[in-house]
Amino acid sequence: MRLNADFSKAVVIDTTAMPWEASPMAGVRRRKLDRIGDEVARATSLVRYDPKSYFSPHTHSGGEEFLVLEGIFSDEHGDYPAGTYVRNPIGSTHKPYSEAGCIIFVKLHQFDEKDTAQLSINTHGEEFQPGTAPGLTVLSLHSFEGESCALVRWAPGTVFNPHTHWGGEEILVLEGTFSDENGHYPKGTWVRSPHLSVHHPYSKEGCLIYVKTGHLPAD
Ligand SMILES: [Fe+2]
Ligand SMILES: [Fe+2]
Repeated sequence: MRLNADFSKAVVIDTTAMPWEASPMAGVRRRKLDRIGDEVARATSLVRYDPKSYFSPHTHSGGEEFLVLEGIFSDEHGDYPAGTYVRNPIGSTHKPYSEAGCIIFVKLHQFDEKDTAQLSINTHGEEFQPGTAPGLTVLSLHSFEGESCALVRWAPGTVFNPHTHWGGEEILVLEGTFSDENGHYPKGTWVRSPHLSVHHPYSKEGCLIYVKTGHLPAD
């Protein structure tokens, strides 16, 4: 399968309007955002676990990164409530399940093989730091070489500088509405902007976004 697999193209998806598709596991459904490959894939998805559902034990052959959006995700290593950001590097294994049900935003098979950090951050317990423009606060989640990942909170009325995305930018809107000159992106919108794209973002009502930069191919 190839879905939104041309990383030189901008993609905007209102994920809340997508159906939840069946996965190979009963009680686990997903919304596919981008994908190259079939069941073992370089993929970005939202995954929903029904209460008392589980997924088969597996090894992350290309690494796994996820943010818990709702509910509580669990595996044999721990419980990860909404707001938890987890990185499981290449070669890690687990058997995921959810007692109460959950929704996660997950990126598979996108790790640099030298990026071996395993981490779990409950973002609700962390303090955001002042950002590079008035009204912006930032919680850095991870960075490795040219790639970085953060939660960014925009106070109502914040306007950021026009800028160019070296290595692209990927955003999932977690709260409120994020905007730029191309449109408005309410909660649940996923925006992927290619290498060397430019925009002038702002937020009238305020928002919280997950943002990853520097990870999309330059050619
Ligand atoms: Fe996994
Ligand atoms: Fe940007």
